[in-house]
Amino acid sequence: MAQMKVRKAVFPAAGMGTRFLPATKATPKEMLCLVDKPLIQYGVEEAVAAGCTEIIIVTGRGKTTMEDHFDKSAELEASLEARGKTALLEVARSVSKLAKITYTRQPEALGLGHAVLMAKELVGNEPFCVLLPDDIVDASTPCMKQMVEAFNETQSSILGSEVVEGDAISAYGCLDCTPDAANPRLLAVKDMVEKPKPGTQPSQNAIIGRYILTPRIFEMIETITPGAGGELQLTDAIKALLQHEKVYGFTYEGKRHDAGDKQGFLRATVELALKNDKLGPDFRSWLKQLPL
Ligand code: G1P
Repeated sequence: MAQMKVRKAVFPAAGMGTRFLPATKATPKEMLCLVDKPLIQYGVEEAVAAGCTEIIIVTGRGKTTMEDHFDKSAELEASLEARGKTALLEVARSVSKLAKITYTRQPEALGLGHAVLMAKELVGNEPFCVLLPDDIVDASTPCMKQMVEAFNETQSSILGSEVVEGDAISAYGCLDCTPDAANPRLLAVKDMVEKPKPGTQPSQNAIIGRYILTPRIFEMIETITPGAGGELQLTDAIKALLQHEKVYGFTYEGKRHDAGDKQGFLRATVELALKNDKLGPDFRSWLKQLPL
């Protein structure tokens, strides 16, 4: 069989962002600015670095600033050009040239599985990535690139995974898995459960917001019924997929920030600002003189 290639990335971005109110009352949470660019741009850049050329963003009501952000801004470019601001002009242009971006809507917030299902026609019959824009992964090799490399070997669905401590696992999808003999980063998945009650988790291996899925997942989403929180859960669809295909967990190299949470967002801001080539050195000196 011909080798399957990953070319498309789906971004569920229709959620209401209630964890971040009041900031997200009129601004999509995906557009919150982390250091110097919106959250969603980190994910899109990661997908592009992984070789994706088509980005599918699943949006909803009140999310149009995302479309403006990735669109060409003729007025802004003309103004920067007229004033000879060539470096800024390049920054503005590069955002609109990142990839081919298509938008589709999720009319009702019925769950992550349902959001992914909205991309069925646009994805078609090929494997694809899913990136949850809240999860920012800081890594020397972009997380999705690591996963695409693993997919090229396994040709099976792969879920980004990390070990979380104690009851924190109850906020995640949780894997029942064993280490793969051939590749120490891969975990052979036996079963999974979305948001296990404390004490019932099969392991401490959480699913993070990075997935590569085979197209059969759409059929599975169509068969599942509402699960945790009364929502159509992607985890339940992947569990159903396990009846037909192999699924792997993948212990990525890097550090994840939950930027959909206020505390996580603050931490990500400080850590990424310190690493920023232009802003980092000054920011570091300023932090050091704070009376902490
Ligand atoms: C979603 C998924 C969950 C996963 C998590 C990663 O949950 O349903 O399986 O572990 O993303 O961030 P949410 O954070 O939307 O509740």
